Amino acid sequence: MYFGKKIKTVALATMVGVFSSMGAHASVVPIETPFVTSYLSTQTQLVSSFREQGDTLVVVVPENTTVRLADWSNATASHVQRVMAIAKFDGSVGQTHTIVAPPGLNVERLVLVGVGNTAETPRYKVEEAGASLAALFNSLSAEKVSVDGSLITNTSQNSQVLAQLAHGIDLRNYRFDRLKSETAERPAQHFTYRVSDRSQASKAFADMSALAEGVFLARELTNLPGSNGYPAAFAEYARQALEPLGVEVTILGPDQVKELGMGALYGVSQGSQHKAHLLVAHYRGNNDQPIALVGKGITFDTGGYNLKTTSSSIVTMHTDKAGAAAVVGAVVALAGQKADVNVVAVAPLAHNMVSDVAQLPGDVVTTGSGLTIEVGNTDAEGRLVLADGLWYAREHFAPRVMADIATLTGAKVRAIGTEFSAVFSDHEEVYESLRLAAEATHERVWRLPLDPVFAEAISSRIADMKNTGAPGASAGAMLLQRFVGDTPWIHIDMAGNALVSSDKGIHPRGSTGYGVRMLTEWVKTYPAE
Ligand code: BES
Ligand code: MN
Ligand code: ZN
Repeated sequence: MYFGKKIKTVALATMVGVFSSMGAHASVVPIETPFVTSYLSTQTQLVSSFREQGDTLVVVVPENTTVRLADWSNATASHVQRVMAIAKFDGSVGQTHTIVAPPGLNVERLVLVGVGNTAETPRYKVEEAGASLAALFNSLSAEKVSVDGSLITNTSQNSQVLAQLAHGIDLRNYRFDRLKSETAERPAQHFTYRVSDRSQASKAFADMSALAEGVFLARELTNLPGSNGYPAAFAEYARQALEPLGVEVTILGPDQVKELGMGALYGVSQGSQHKAHLLVAHYRGNNDQPIALVGKGITFDTGGYNLKTTSSSIVTMHTDKAGAAAVVGAVVALAGQKADVNVVAVAPLAHNMVSDVAQLPGDVVTTGSGLTIEVGNTDAEGRLVLADGLWYAREHFAPRVMADIATLTGAKVRAIGTEFSAVFSDHEEVYESLRLAAEATHERVWRLPLDPVFAEAISSRIADMKNTGAPGASAGAMLLQRFVGDTPWIHIDMAGNALVSSDKGIHPRGSTGYGVRMLTEWVKTYPAE
């Protein structure tokens, strides 16, 4: 096993308990991999004053600000100001400019980064500016970086903007390197931020770093190849991340899934050695009625007997667990922030495989709610597991509102691409609250119709409904709606949003962790009862 060797090479990796027993079925393939809980090799410290030090000095520049730090000589200031004029650097958010060998300064280079009008600049633009700094530092092999934020004079803006910048740097610096035999070089800069109020800034940085931890876990779980991240392994890894944060974790094994009547969830994984599990993660930051987040956890989607027949359609299907990863990541973030919320994540987990005992096209399954579904297509498995996940969340937690998130349909990708997810809701306030959270975090959403007119699309001759129908994305949403009862609810189809094929802004190539930031924001801002 080369996992054992790899783990030693990961700086600061905290080794957590190795998987032991998970019931009869899980013993088929024991989980030998301790889950890495440290995703960054950079270090960050906050100080209230410094003389520029290290190889790189970053000056954070609000729009139209005279750039002159307190200890700069006239010669330094006039050189920098002249460079800015020539380079047309005015502090617009996202602008960067590097001055090598800045006169009078004890560093190799001075990097100016614009943050716009700090009272108004949206958070995501500052995060993106941070991400481009991270790319710059890595290409320059910077080691010690001092970041001077003193030109942002408003104290709360100073804390917020610098924390957002750091967040963008962190998000870009995540690496999925657990499967490399050689130590992959991680970014390892040592950052010192000069902030105006250390205690206020510490809180802002800590909140952003808890959020990043949620994103990292979601990316890590989503990045796991199908044969590493099967249902029992996914659930165990999630438990290792959640329990130290005080989250109550329950993992139902296949026998319990069956006993509770969740035949739709069970059926998807019945052809695999890796049978279905249901992961429940409850963070009780207050005593309100909980908010439930339900995530599709297909740990690999071959399509089943309706097999995915092109290499391009099947090869990324280890990311079909991104919805489950997003809800787990959101709970990690909220618990890490000690947020004043009561939230439960429910992740139905299944491996959609073919075998002698796999589900057949045309089979009928009985869900936990008692409703039956004709499996018109074994590749429309997401809505099957979510039907039981939504029912379980409703039955066991009586949530005041539910959101589900899923890499559900190719139809969604064809309709609106991969920049937006599609959202469906018949509840205006729920839609509006999610839209705002999506806007704040720039995890973009676009509404598509959920309407009684689609009932016909999912009607079945032999069962209560069927899992296929057109138009595909709305038919999927329509089926899910049958399982939410009276609970206010929104469905998020994030097919295609889970993965980027090249580095892009805050995302290094690979899994994005899409949904964590939006859901975290949504849970925190959802109107109180
Ligand atoms: N996991 C796929 C959807 C998907 C497609 C996610 C592309 C990410 C990228 C889902 O389970 C699926 O196969 N959906 C089918 C349903 C159809 C057979 C009714 C689809 O949309 O093609
Ligand atoms: Mn499928
Ligand atoms: Zn799928």
